[in-house]
Amino acid sequence: MKDERHSLPPHQHQYSYKHSSRLFLFKLFNSTVFYVLLLLLSYLLGYLSAVTRPIVQQLPTRPIVQQLPTRPIVQQLPSSQSSATTKAIFQSLPTQLDNLHVTTVCAKQLPSELVRETILDKVYDGTSPFINFPPAHVATLLRGKSIKGWGSNGAVFEHLVKKMKPKVIIEVGTFLGASALHMAQLTHKLGLDSVILCIDDFRGWPGFRDRFKFIKMVNGDVLLLYQFMQNVVAMNATETVLPVPFSSGSGLQKLCEWGVLGDMIEIDAGHDFNSAWADINRAYRILRPGGVIFGHDYFSAADNRGVRRAVNLFGQLNGLKIQTDGQHWVIYS
Ligand SMILES: C[S@@+](CC[C@H](N)C(=O)[O-])C[C@H]1O[C@@H](n2cnc3c(N)ncnc32)[C@H](O)[C@@H]1O
Repeated sequence: MKDERHSLPPHQHQYSYKHSSRLFLFKLFNSTVFYVLLLLLSYLLGYLSAVTRPIVQQLPTRPIVQQLPTRPIVQQLPSSQSSATTKAIFQSLPTQLDNLHVTTVCAKQLPSELVRETILDKVYDGTSPFINFPPAHVATLLRGKSIKGWGSNGAVFEHLVKKMKPKVIIEVGTFLGASALHMAQLTHKLGLDSVILCIDDFRGWPGFRDRFKFIKMVNGDVLLLYQFMQNVVAMNATETVLPVPFSSGSGLQKLCEWGVLGDMIEIDAGHDFNSAWADINRAYRILRPGGVIFGHDYFSAADNRGVRRAVNLFGQLNGLKIQTDGQHWVIYS
């Protein structure tokens, strides 16, 4: 049979082609498949535009610090865990000591009878700072004796000195020497040949001279160290008490490097959390085994944000019992 399409004239061929294309488009626009395809295509375009967006737009807009847990890690531990387990967990983590960038191992303990001499060598070129004291340029600016402190004669000092019979006492935060000189008196009374190292930058704190106006200043150098030394001279304690005039961080670090360990360490420098926390952690490393570390202001107004919080956290992380004696906290190693 003859195919009719092949027998059509050329113009009718063209007409038939156009007609069938329109028909095809009409059917296409009216079919469900077309709309499904359109939908898929729009999804595809959306996906492609998302993955090609610059990376910076995908970064979180809030600073990372806001995403850190607000509660200290220690609170997330199950309460049933024993202190030994807690201690083991924290020792296996990058610990608070790592965060403070302090070395964890101190030099071998120096015999206590070498401690004074070692400090004289390392800090004072081998000569006692009390020789030829006071220097002429400050002599007239000092009071013969002016000793003021805070809880510096508390019963805790006598309790601990009697109990520990310390050969080496380290005080972190000395000011005019009230607590250091009180401890010197107690050790003398017991006939102990103790050395008391006083770590303090002897700068006080901003504005402290509003309350202690008698402490003079020479060219911006506040005479706190000199007045403290004058008090030591007045109390006849120059063979016992020795200033270590550095910041608590560097002073404690050096004692650790030199192997100077304390039988008793008193913490009474900065009272904000960070200062107390750093001082306690650094000082504990130079506490001889069986020694005692203690400090003032466990119950002061800002204690839960400062000293007490640091002490409690330290005790908790290290599985140590905290005792109190008046306003003081006490931890035995
Ligand atoms: C509260 S007073 C010490 C009082 C003293 N223990 C007493 O009972 O008389 C605090 C002392 O800590 C010192 N101090 C504070 N922060 C210090 C730091 N980071 N390094 C060294 N000394 C610091 C101050 O200079 C000040 O003399």
